[in-house]
Amino acid sequence: LDTHVAETNEHLYKILVIGELGTGKTSIIKRYVNNFFSQQYRATIGVDFALKVLNWDSNTLIRLQLWDIAGQERFGNMTRVYYKEAVGAFIVFDVTRMETFAAVVKWKNDLDNKVRLTDGSTVPCVLLANKCDMLKEGAVNNLTLMEKFCQDNGFIGWYPTSAKDNINIESAAKCLVSEIVNNR
Ligand code: GTP
Ligand code: MG
Repeated sequence: LDTHVAETNEHLYKILVIGELGTGKTSIIKRYVNNFFSQQYRATIGVDFALKVLNWDSNTLIRLQLWDIAGQERFGNMTRVYYKEAVGAFIVFDVTRMETFAAVVKWKNDLDNKVRLTDGSTVPCVLLANKCDMLKEGAVNNLTLMEKFCQDNGFIGWYPTSAKDNINIESAAKCLVSEIVNNR
């Protein structure tokens, strides 16, 4: 009998989820990890954690350690501590509140100023336009502008997401993890 056993690779990746208050960071993580959604808003205090295990391919197991950082932390000094050793990030805004989109660049700058990969490059980051269930059909219309925004500000991509209706969260995670895997 040939008892050859395929080698299994295991990786642990620290992923940050940041963005303004109430944009849906906790809801996106709860949907992704527990397939659960609640309309009730309870602001995160400081940081919460969640773990998502992915069978990435037949011989690769990936553990995503998701750091759910409170929106109010942009005004504090703790983000430097929270960002340490992260290898990927999501920045979330709320499509129904344009001021949360205006803050995206501030979050991206905060991220890039405080954490880098070991080779000095910026941490791969995906932009999430959340609560897309609240927009009327075709309202996320300016795709070209969003593409340009991503290029100009160093995002590897963006997705309209809904934690409520479970739209594009898996795809966005796949995009980020692919980039992380390819970087190594
Ligand atoms: P902080 O912890 O304060 O930074 O907020 P957060 O970004 O974690 O937001 P949270 O996930 O707590 O969501 C805020 C509110 O938005 C809650 O009432 C959620 O139910 C609601 N919400 C989140 N995602 C969605 C979504 O995709 N669609 C809709 N309609 N509501 C959402
Ligand atoms: Mg939260």
